[in-house]
Amino acid sequence: MMTLRNCRIETDDEGIAWLTLDKADASANSLNAEMLQEAAEVLAALEKNPPRGLVIRSGKRSGFVAGADINEFTTLRSIEQAERLTKAGQSVIDRFEALPCPSVAAIEGFALGGGLELALACTYRVAVGNDRLTLGFPEVLLGIHPGFGGTVRSVQLMGAPAALDLMLTGRNVRGTKALATGLVDRLVDSADGLADTARDLIRRRPAPRRAPWTQRLLSLAPIRPFIARQVRAGVARKVRADHYPAPYAIVDLWERYGAQGRAAYDAEAESIARLFLTSTSRNLVRVFFLQDALKSQRIAGARTPQHVHVIGAGVMGGDIAAWCALRGLEVTLQDRAEQYIKPAMERATALFEKRIKDPTKRAEAAGRLRADLEGTGIAQADVVIEAIVENVEAKRALYERIEPVMKAGAVIATNTSSIRLEELSSALAVPGRLVGLHFFNPVAQMPLIEIVQGESTATESLGSAIALARRLDKFPLPCRSAPGFLVNRVLSAYMQEAMLAGREGVPLPVIDATAVDFGMAMGPVELSDVVGLDICRHVGAIVSGALGRPLPDTRELDERIAAGKLGKKSGEGFYLWRDSKPLKATAATPAGPAPADLQDRLMLALANEAVACLREGVVADADKIDAGLIFGAGYPPFRGGPLQAARDRGIAECVERLEELAARHGPRFTPDAGWAQLAPLS
Ligand code: NAI
Repeated sequence: MMTLRNCRIETDDEGIAWLTLDKADASANSLNAEMLQEAAEVLAALEKNPPRGLVIRSGKRSGFVAGADINEFTTLRSIEQAERLTKAGQSVIDRFEALPCPSVAAIEGFALGGGLELALACTYRVAVGNDRLTLGFPEVLLGIHPGFGGTVRSVQLMGAPAALDLMLTGRNVRGTKALATGLVDRLVDSADGLADTARDLIRRRPAPRRAPWTQRLLSLAPIRPFIARQVRAGVARKVRADHYPAPYAIVDLWERYGAQGRAAYDAEAESIARLFLTSTSRNLVRVFFLQDALKSQRIAGARTPQHVHVIGAGVMGGDIAAWCALRGLEVTLQDRAEQYIKPAMERATALFEKRIKDPTKRAEAAGRLRADLEGTGIAQADVVIEAIVENVEAKRALYERIEPVMKAGAVIATNTSSIRLEELSSALAVPGRLVGLHFFNPVAQMPLIEIVQGESTATESLGSAIALARRLDKFPLPCRSAPGFLVNRVLSAYMQEAMLAGREGVPLPVIDATAVDFGMAMGPVELSDVVGLDICRHVGAIVSGALGRPLPDTRELDERIAAGKLGKKSGEGFYLWRDSKPLKATAATPAGPAPADLQDRLMLALANEAVACLREGVVADADKIDAGLIFGAGYPPFRGGPLQAARDRGIAECVERLEELAARHGPRFTPDAGWAQLAPLS
């Protein structure tokens, strides 16, 4: 028996050693430096006195090992240091593999990243095959790849196609798929079965799994370049090498070394060390923490709503109601007449069909969503979500009607995208019950919800709104009730700049391509079409008016709106839309090269507005601005958000460039005073 801070090992009557990983003061195991150090001590004992077999298991209910410790990534200062630490980790994992006895990883729950790499170094893997089982290599999502031998052992075990797919997508594998691909050798029903099966494997010592010969052939040197080319082309359809180098590095490693020999492990360590120090990886790690921070927000004592009543079954309300039901809430959906509710119920059915495979669970979700023309749900609801037309008078009149019927303590959450909450809350007897819950369109796909706090919003209402957002598996972003809140305001600046460039004759597809080239999920012209030109005009006017700026000249929007061209929803806006896709090639003007300063015009207009929001305290801090724009506006995660991108580029350089743009294009580019308070890169 040997007990260390983060693990313990004991040997049973049969001579089998049981190593239990149980990281101190943590809910999950991770392979941090201390854990690896202790593993090395355990290994020294095992090497000196080899047991009959070794079983590695977890002392945590949550899972086996979650991976390397992401916090430690942020402490890496040089490629050399990163390589040294990676090689030290590799050598610990290698020593498990080299033990003279058979070893078994006994997995319950997750085995991710470094955890899966440790398991792959064992002779066998046994797992509890319930729905908590999650095996995968999520490294690529952090801009790196496996570094403890995973790029080598996964190919040896599963064959190149399956292993590359696992590493390139970061996707999780479960149950029978894990068994079929060889990631696990045995699936058992319960934790008790784990120990018995591990013991059985050690006693019987069947031949360890490796990829079938047909798969091994694919890793032969003459074949690899052909396959690598295909895989690389598949990667290139999704991401660019200068934006996301890690997936390309995964293919390169395999192509060069075929997952064979010591050189393959060394190259893995050298490659991951380089990736650790890229701005892409640093930013993706940062975004991971930003996301965690958004997810862990809660206000003490806040109750999670159980019953939601949605009023307004249009584009937004209908989809919000469906999403709430999908996520397990009781939902009643009200509108002025049956005809408005019916299409929303049909869309909900389609959503449930797409997202819920089990027919019983699908029927349960459908049962949780009820059409409620009479509004009987108002009296039962913990939260009434208001998503009627964007009109102050209509919203106020509605609140006056529903408030007397509502339960004491129930919250009204408005989905308004542009009305300040103060204009609405004064219609209420208890103004504190009004909070903004600004969902983005399409509701099912957009992960962010702006939680808008008016001057009179009560803390309990804010707490309920945040808890509801989390219950809906969305990221809550608390915002002040400022014009356009955060996301629409910042996007307006970017979209207006695109309109101006278009007016100067830059072809619209070129404008979009310039933004996509920067990494934006979608160009500003296409985004205008998706949002709806009427909504863009409305939000643009509200934001400019409220901020005391000159109203934008919206003649391109006005002409189209007058002709019924509202964007994607009407089949035509700036582009013609077919099968939900814009026809860019046939847009009136032919594509040509972008003006040299176009990318800066678009992206610095956006950044300058983001800085203004920081200065005005629209959200709590710079991190929240970055998170909001990544999750709410499709800002490229590898750049870490607009403020982080500005820091990476250099704040002084951004300001200087804005001044040049202001001289050339007008005072709208005047650097905001907030640049002075933006902290530089730490
Ligand atoms: P919509 O026009 O599609 O739907 C509004 C629905 O409310 C209609 O079905 C209408 O019949 C119903 N309605 C109007 N007055 C009513 C009343 N007094 N009682 C019951 N039902 C009533 O509008 P959309 O686009 O869904 O917008 C709704 C709200 O969401 C607005 O405040 C808008 O600013 C906001 N929003 C819209 C987004 C979008 O992309 N469309 C994005 C985020 C927020």
